[in-house]
Amino acid sequence: MKIEVPVEEAYRLINPGCVVLVTSAYRDRANVMTLAWQSPLSRRPPLVGISVAQTHFTAELITASEEFALNIPGAGLFKQVQRCGKVSGREKDKFKEAGLTPAGAKKIRAPLIAECLGHLECGVVDRHKTGDHFFFVGEVLAASAESDFFSERWYEAAELIHHLGGKWFYFSGRREET
Ligand SMILES: Cc1cc2nc3c(=O)[nH]c(=O)nc-3n(C[C@H](O)[C@H](O)[C@H](O)COP(=O)(O)O)c2cc1C
Repeated sequence: MKIEVPVEEAYRLINPGCVVLVTSAYRDRANVMTLAWQSPLSRRPPLVGISVAQTHFTAELITASEEFALNIPGAGLFKQVQRCGKVSGREKDKFKEAGLTPAGAKKIRAPLIAECLGHLECGVVDRHKTGDHFFFVGEVLAASAESDFFSERWYEAAELIHHLGGKWFYFSGRREET
């Protein structure tokens, strides 16, 4: 069961800087890629930004479809996260390869990933060339999260994946209240 998350608060799903799986689709092609470079940008309207290398298949699909989803994996999906960050969707169907289940989104055509703990559905409102990447600005049109792991904020049990760069990662698990 997943609970609705107000889109103004959707940034809280990714606030800790977790690694996300970006899904995108155009015509008969759907794809998933691992992404660490994401950021909340605005509460009203709710905007998030992602930096995608211009050569990635994902950049092509997002440019053509003008939408994408951020799917938030827990530590249990670490192998899939690594796989989807190594192989290009131009050559392989990564949903099949990684054993991820496409699920229907509410506001966009691109699929969500059923195994993920949270989802932000976004429509592209801007695209900037930033060096060798495109920086896509997305308006969050819908968001949802697993009720066992998220209510106003992520619980420790969610164990989100954080990329320190290169081969280094950590999983979140301890929370401080201030
Ligand atoms: C942990 C991790 C984080 C990554 N973060 C990004 C990122 O922020 N931006 C990016 O363009 N590529 C990033 N990548 C690389 C892409 O996921 C990878 O090149 C992928 O194969 C591109 O897939 P595509 O061609 O199917 O779009 C990351 C890879 C890993 C393993």
